[in-house]
Amino acid sequence: MKIGFFDSGVGGLTVLDQALKLLPHEDYIFYADTDHVPYGEKPKDLVKQYVTEAVDFIAGQGVKAIVIACNTATSIVIDDLRASYDFPILGIEPAVKPAVLALDKEKKKVLVLATRLTLQEEKYKKLVKSLDSDNRVVSLPLPGLVELAEALDFKDEDVLPYLREQLQSIDIREVGTVVLGCTHFPFFRTALRQIFGHDVGLIDGSIGTAKQLKRLLGDRLEDGSGTIAFYESGRPVLEEARLSKYRLLLNRLETAESPV
Ligand code: DGL
Repeated sequence: MKIGFFDSGVGGLTVLDQALKLLPHEDYIFYADTDHVPYGEKPKDLVKQYVTEAVDFIAGQGVKAIVIACNTATSIVIDDLRASYDFPILGIEPAVKPAVLALDKEKKKVLVLATRLTLQEEKYKKLVKSLDSDNRVVSLPLPGLVELAEALDFKDEDVLPYLREQLQSIDIREVGTVVLGCTHFPFFRTALRQIFGHDVGLIDGSIGTAKQLKRLLGDRLEDGSGTIAFYESGRPVLEEARLSKYRLLLNRLETAESPV
């Protein structure tokens, strides 16, 4: 049986990429909700409805696990989803814990970049409260990066001015670790490095999620060949021109700095 991956858009590929590395003999479904991306600025109930419909569709294809490769969807609806299906459903949340643990004693800050919806959610607020006793976590929504990734626009001339403008209120020298709390953001590692420099940790949850998937599958492994069936809002993606977008992005991740 296949493993389902879900995201609002192309961000989930950053998690799928790690799963392909760790579990290359599985076969995958990748579902992007292209009709409704971006989620991060939409009302919570609407996003909940979109995710529920999409996961129902993926479950209908016959899968042995689903990875919600979207921080926003995880924060809103993961508990309901887990209660509705009898196969494992994994989520991803901003990697605040490893980021706080990785901080040295210099009193540097952790900057969490995510969608507005993720940062507004109770789940995130509780997570930060439980870890951040001395107020070192700063959170910032970056909806523009989701739009740039969806437009396949990774050009420095578009990305860097946006980042510089959004980060105006942050003293870059105070930041010790940046958490990429949206699965679209690892596509921008190179640009973020240019802004934050090489000594700053850029942490995301993709490797942790892939490892967790492997653990949960236990011995229920396949002898497949890493095929991926792509779907966009319930429609199979069959045309070469549309498939090439996903291949291009997976290739892009091959040449990018590896996630921590
Ligand atoms: N990639 C998603 C996340 O990890 C959501 C981006 C969006 O649709 O706004 O949060």
